Amino acid sequence: MKYSDLLDIAKTYGDPIYVYDSEKIISQFHRLTNAFSGVKHLKLNYAAKALSNISILKLMNSLGSGLDTVSIQEVQLGLLAGFKPESIIFTPNGVSLEEIEEASKLGVRINIDNLSILEQFGSKHPDIPVCIRINPHVMAGGNSNISVGHIDSKFGISIHQIPHLLRIVELTKMNINGIHMHTGSDILDIDVFLYASEILFETAKNFKNLDFIDFGSGFKVPYKKGDIETNVEELGKKLSNRFNEFCKEYGKELTLAFEPGKFLVSEAGYFLTKVNVVKQTTSTVFASVDSGFNHLIRPMLYGASHQIINISNPKGRERYYSVVGYICETDTFASNRRINEITEGDILCFKNAGAYCFTMASNYNSRFRPAEVLWYDGKAILIRERENFDDLIKNQIDIKDLFATKKQQVGVK
Ligand SMILES: Cc1ncc(COP(=O)(O)O)c(C=O)c1O
Repeated sequence: MKYSDLLDIAKTYGDPIYVYDSEKIISQFHRLTNAFSGVKHLKLNYAAKALSNISILKLMNSLGSGLDTVSIQEVQLGLLAGFKPESIIFTPNGVSLEEIEEASKLGVRINIDNLSILEQFGSKHPDIPVCIRINPHVMAGGNSNISVGHIDSKFGISIHQIPHLLRIVELTKMNINGIHMHTGSDILDIDVFLYASEILFETAKNFKNLDFIDFGSGFKVPYKKGDIETNVEELGKKLSNRFNEFCKEYGKELTLAFEPGKFLVSEAGYFLTKVNVVKQTTSTVFASVDSGFNHLIRPMLYGASHQIINISNPKGRERYYSVVGYICETDTFASNRRINEITEGDILCFKNAGAYCFTMASNYNSRFRPAEVLWYDGKAILIRERENFDDLIKNQIDIKDLFATKKQQVGVK
């Protein structure tokens, strides 16, 4: 997308606003598919949590993607977007048996990540096949918040609990149709990934009726020019070969599944904000924008570094700025960044704003959540309206004059 297209969108629909480039999503989907062209059956299940606007889900469905979901609401969104139930996998963590049963009633595939629920679900529904999430105890991932396959993580069933797991399967006579791991996001070391895959293969040998092996996700994408990223082509070649070898040993052509979020949508997203104030203090120059961590929490939550471009003045001389939000507590998007000279009213564009940005947005400070636009076929399509004051109060129940009466009584005393 050109900067001029983004400026036009901000002018037409206002700011702050999220914009998603569908072409980038499509090309990333094909890139990953091509990287694994060496396997006969590949299934990409887009991780809805990354960006769950129904129009994005529809785009994924049109590409032939499945859907990875972590809440009953994501399952319902997926069905609403047109995914067939069997194309949806429910991979929750720490949810109730009731929620898993509700998802199962909707016909989606179930992935269970703890022995307690496995035992309860298997005892009640031995006829419903389930996938199990293994924790391979591998330290992988960009930072501790997104590394989820290590020994202290709450995710997955420990590989050291396999004997217990097998006992549950045998006693309940349930059917395990898939085996899964997700070790974390932003994995750079392919060898670590392949090492964890070996643990998954080893575990898979315990189950005779598998249909698929799901390797989760964790592909690192570049955040700026020259950034290192997961070499999906190399991973594709190496893992595909090993997977095909395993299928031969196993005696069945299994499906190789992934559930990418970031890889498919991160780089497709742009977040546009307007500079309200340029404030020079004794130590720095702040550029305060009309947004904050209520709309884009990743920098404050786990130090994510989004590239920020002044698209109103992309050729201007570069100066140092700290870009901050309007939330009334520390709300820093970037410190001492070189950005083309900023004037109040300029539009700053945050890159890599497709994954875990809008989906993590909130109404903190009673602000409205932004609008979302899909760029498709050279045109901007509004796919979510900006919230308004009615949205903010729609579920609140007005207690009318309850306190007014109370005040009167206190006054009488
Ligand atoms: C179980 C599971 N699968 C897939 C993903 C998607 O990961 P990514 O966005 O790094 O591709 C996540 C992310 O948290 C996850 O928890």
